[in-house]
Parts: sequence; structure tokens; C-alpha cells
Amino acid sequence: MRAMQLAELKAKAEALREEWQRALASVQDADGLEQVRVRFLGRRGELTRLFSSLKELAPAERAPAGQLLNALKQEITDALAQKAQLIEEQERARRLAAERYDFTLPGKWRPLGHLHPLTQVRLEIEDIFMRMGFDVASGPEVEDDYHNFEALNIPEDHPARDEWDSFYIDERLLLRTHTSPVQIRVMKSRKPPVRIICPGRCYRRDNPDATHSPVFHQVELLWVERGLTMANLKWIIEEFVRRFFGPGYEMRFSADFFPFTEPSAQVHIRRPRGEWLEIMGAGMVDPAVLAEVGYDPEEVTGFAFGLGIERMAMLRWGIEDIRLFYQNDIRFLSQF
Ligand code: DAH
Repeated sequence: MRAMQLAELKAKAEALREEWQRALASVQDADGLEQVRVRFLGRRGELTRLFSSLKELAPAERAPAGQLLNALKQEITDALAQKAQLIEEQERARRLAAERYDFTLPGKWRPLGHLHPLTQVRLEIEDIFMRMGFDVASGPEVEDDYHNFEALNIPEDHPARDEWDSFYIDERLLLRTHTSPVQIRVMKSRKPPVRIICPGRCYRRDNPDATHSPVFHQVELLWVERGLTMANLKWIIEEFVRRFFGPGYEMRFSADFFPFTEPSAQVHIRRPRGEWLEIMGAGMVDPAVLAEVGYDPEEVTGFAFGLGIERMAMLRWGIEDIRLFYQNDIRFLSQF
């Protein structure tokens, strides 16, 4: 083998320097970088090969040649480390940009929608009375004449029927004009004591205006037991109004007439600086109604009321047109 000269080794080292610099410059990622490392510094790498050619030099030349190669090795090692760091930083920046998560930003709420204001009011009314020990009952919206009128002491040609202009389905069936028929159904199916409320939809042939809708909602209440009086009715109503509206609302209790109650009353509420609005009809269940369902009017007494849910909502929020509840205008509904 021909002995190598120092000059020749220097030239090779110089060529190698240019080569690894070019190779390093074209590296894009960690894999590419590893390839460069193996190619030049690996066990069979190009620099390693130069090292093994040291022994071909004259002994006096070996030390300076060794220094030269060691310097080159150090240079490559440093450059690789620097490039590795650069690649890692670039990779991190790329990942952050791609994922677009910034965990330092505050969270965001996403609107879910909510219950209709009339549903909110109904649930709250149910809640108040359930806490007072009332059960929630229900009855059909397509009702017969007997339960809607007859059994409530409103015979066929009674003038009071004018108050309940009805949607008839046939001779016998109609859309219930109030929730009072549920009183009859409940009393016929249970023995006293009876303590129920019944929320539900009602229908009347009224022309829609700011305070009338052909479909609306009531909550009926009925309590039948031995020894109940008008004073108990008044307490329940006052307590309910206080719990539902809180302070600032006024209540007025006055006489009225319903065929199924005797005596009968009506209740008006006024919100702060507002108008009086009737919220319910009420009264002591007429003995004729108790007798009709097979209760003994000598034995038990009862009271009842029919409360307008829309009216309660209008009073709570100061809404002046009942039609807003049915138009499904999200600008209105989203306020509750
Ligand atoms: N049912 C009546 C109506 O819709 C309201 C009513 C009055 C209900 C007196 C009652 C009551 O339970 O006792 O106009």
C-alpha cells in the first residue's frame, strides 16, 4: 500500500468538510440528520475512515493529522447538535401551528337553548304546590260535555256557557275550555282526602289579542277534605303568590261567580307600577259538584282554583302581549 502524505490527508479532510456541510445544509428533519451523522461519524463513516488512514502516515505526521481530524470531528459533532436543536424547534412550531390549541386562552360557553318561559313557570308552580303536598294529575284535552260542563254544574242551556266559547269536535266532544274537568275525573277515581293540581292546555274560541289566545294554559288546584274553609283557600293562594312573585307584588281577592263554586272569588295581581291582572278564579267546591262525584257534602268540603299560566308569566316579566309566547321569536325567547 502506498504511504499517504499529510498533504493528501489534509486535502481529503478539506473535501470532507465541504461534503458534510453540503449534506447538512439539505437536511430537513431528524431522520435526515441521523443519516448524515451515520454517513460521516458512524463506525463505517467517512470521517472514521479517514481516522483509520492515519496509520498510513509517517509517524511524525500522525500527531498533527490526528489533531486536524479531531478538530473536524468536533466541528461536525457541534454542527449536528446545533442542527438537531433547530429541527426540534421547527417541528414544535409546526405542530403548534397545525393543532392551533392555545391552552392559555379562556374557555368559551356554548349556548344550549333553554326551557320555554311558559314551561319554566309551569314547573315552578308545580314545584311550589308539590312542596305543599299536592299531587300532579292530568286529564284529556279532548273532553266530553259531561266533564267539561255538566258535572261542573253548568247544564246545557245555562247562560254561564257563554263564558266558555268552545271548539266542538262533535255533539258530545270538545277541546276542554278549562282544566276544571280534571277535578271531576280525579274525584270520581279517588276517595277524599284529595289534594291535586293539574297543569294543562285549554282551548277557547277567542279572537287572539294582547290578552287572549285560543290556546292557553291553566293550573287547576283541588283540595277536598273534612273541615276545609275559605280561609284555608285564601292562605294557600297568599302563600303561593308570595312564593312565586316575592316582594313588591300586590294581591286583590274579590267576589265572583262560577257555577261549580259557592262562594266564588277571583284574584288579581299587580306588579310594581303595573296594572291589575286577573290570575285565577277560585272558590269552595259547590255541594252539587261533590254530590255528583259521589262525595258526601255533609262530610267533606273542598276548594279549587283555576290559574292562568300565561298571566303568571306576563306578571313576572312585565310582558304585555300574550301572543309573544307563541310566536317562537328567538329574540323574545332568549331573554328568559
Ligand atoms: N275554570 C274556571 C275558568 O276557566 C276557573 C275556575 C274558577 C277554576 C273557580 C276553579 C274554580 O277551580 O274553583 O274560568
